[in-house]
Amino acid sequence: MLFSYTNALLLLALLSIIAITRTLLLALRNPLNRLPGPWHTKLTNLRLKLAVLTGRRIHYIHTLHQLYGPYVRISPTEIAVNDPQGSKLIHGVGSSFEKSAWYDDLTVMERPTLFTMKDKKSHAARRKLFARGFSKSNLKGHWEGVVKGKVELAVTKILEDARRRGGVVDVLKWFTLMASDVSSHLMFGESFRTLEKGEVNEFIRVITLALKGNGIGAELPLVRAIGKRLPLKITRELWQTNEIMDEYARIAVRNMKATGGGKNIFANMMAESEKGEEGALDDRDVEVEATALFVAGTDTTAVSLTYLIWAVLGRPDLRVQLENEVSTLPQGFTDADAEKLPLLNAVIEETMRLYGAAPGMLPRIVPPGGVDLGGYYISQGMTVTTHAYSAHRDPAVFPDPLEYIFDQTFVEDLLLT
Ligand code: HEM
Repeated sequence: MLFSYTNALLLLALLSIIAITRTLLLALRNPLNRLPGPWHTKLTNLRLKLAVLTGRRIHYIHTLHQLYGPYVRISPTEIAVNDPQGSKLIHGVGSSFEKSAWYDDLTVMERPTLFTMKDKKSHAARRKLFARGFSKSNLKGHWEGVVKGKVELAVTKILEDARRRGGVVDVLKWFTLMASDVSSHLMFGESFRTLEKGEVNEFIRVITLALKGNGIGAELPLVRAIGKRLPLKITRELWQTNEIMDEYARIAVRNMKATGGGKNIFANMMAESEKGEEGALDDRDVEVEATALFVAGTDTTAVSLTYLIWAVLGRPDLRVQLENEVSTLPQGFTDADAEKLPLLNAVIEETMRLYGAAPGMLPRIVPPGGVDLGGYYISQGMTVTTHAYSAHRDPAVFPDPLEYIFDQTFVEDLLLT
């Protein structure tokens, strides 16, 4: 017994030595070693994972860029890029860098969507199909009135709430409900009417949990694998396809096919798709895309708007100037009128730069043949990741990156670009 116990220990030690030696050899031979970065990134991604799990990834990466420059190794196979030229190559039109496998973890329903599709060809075909539905003329022609109605209702609700609570109001809550109602109307074909009810519905509750489940699963796959098998309501909602989601998603198809003209953004896409065009959508695609678009457009809009209000209220001068500018709008103004207001547009741009709701990672895979980026050769299959948080605070582009700028020079520059 003692003999076999000792043998088992010896075997374990031997296997550990082999595993460690292999990791070290791979680390020593890795061509990414020329890139600057903390020593441990040659061996492990654990420090990066810790940053993700504590919600500090963008801050960790930003500090690394400040210490090591625009190209930083952040794990054995991943490089953070904060260089306009590099970003253009990675994300520009015609780029051959595909989305990384991380996007698979964001898939809430089993099929890929425009947001998560990795294959360039399928993505381009789907995007072409969506371009019609999301064109400025289609959005203004079909949906401006819908959006305006919800915005006006949200403003009424915010005012009522503020009056009830002595001037204090949770604008994030009302903007979330407003964006949910706009998104549900456009994607599903009927509003969830959360503004009227003053609270989220069951669909939003379950999708929020499923997204949390994805986030946890992406970083801790073992936790997800075990959780999936547990017979608990919470783990089911975090990690299993949900009937409530499917039920709502089916509304999108029903309204798309409604007689007398489809009632959602998919109606005219589907007309094209029925002609057998490449990237055509079937009913299930519409269900998953409607859900994904709801997710993509709701919290992002609500969070960005909340930051905008916060940024303006914290600057009394700006608030007065902005109110004066907005008061010049005619009665029954349209989106086209608002587009012409320089200060309003500067405030939107500056809010998106400093406080935009998606400042995090956009990981892409280096295509076959590898690439030269910023003077470094990066071999195929490696992940290169940009972060808007750092890009928007790059002193080489924004001389005073942390200043919220709304002076006349900035506004004029903006109008020229
Ligand atoms: C302030 C609001 C928004 C912000 C900050 C934002 C941010 C972003 C970012 C950073 C990406 C790139 C993601 C990636 O490659 O991983 C993205 C993609 C996307 N967004 Fe938004 N978004 C906003 C609003 C919306 C809205 C309202 C919709 C839909 C109605 C939408 C739909 C999408 C879609 C479909 C993609 C994937 C596009 C593709 O891969 O071709 N977003 N968004």
